[in-house]
Amino acid sequence: MEKIAVYPGTFDPVTLGHLDIVERAIPIFDRVIIAVAMDTGGKPTLFSIEERVQMLKDVTKNYPKTEVYGFSGLLITYAQELNACTILRGLRAISDFEHEFQMASINKRLNPSVETLFMMTNESYFFLSSSSVKELAALGCNLKGFVPELIAKKLKERLL
Ligand code: COA
Repeated sequence: MEKIAVYPGTFDPVTLGHLDIVERAIPIFDRVIIAVAMDTGGKPTLFSIEERVQMLKDVTKNYPKTEVYGFSGLLITYAQELNACTILRGLRAISDFEHEFQMASINKRLNPSVETLFMMTNESYFFLSSSSVKELAALGCNLKGFVPELIAKKLKERLL
């Protein structure tokens, strides 16, 4: 049976921290499905769902075993539809833990057959978040080392 991982997120926009998680998941799973959420728990987004999906497709186009889709509704239902055995999440710091623990526990209760797997974010990206990247972009900061070049260009076009 194929080992399918779903890597969900808002990805507004994707950062090098997210890509680091995907790259490390590729050798572990048969397929890594990046699932871009339409329902983000009320969090407003700078980029539309179509834009976020397209940006991820562009920056992962040379990655093997990787697919990108948008989804709406419950993550656990989507994971089930994809026959995924694992929900993959990156953990940056202790501050992420409570929120992630809550989400993983709810998802486990909704469907015990899907495991949530946490990967420690590479220490180079511990401090990184999509919000901080947007803030830096709005202030005209160089985003090298934070996001792929294409994403830095998109942020510049949108914010400056
Ligand atoms: N490197 C850098 N940044 C990272 C990162 C990494 N490896 N992993 C996470 N982050 C950052 C993100 O950029 C984001 O930053 P921001 O808050 O500044 O935008 C932050 O961590 C949170 O990540 P995000 O992917 O947006 O997660 P979330 O906690 O908002 O949850 C979903 C997103 C899609 C998983 C969640 O909303 C969901 O499951 N939605 C579907 C509906 C559903 O099933 N709800 C019930 C859930 S129990």
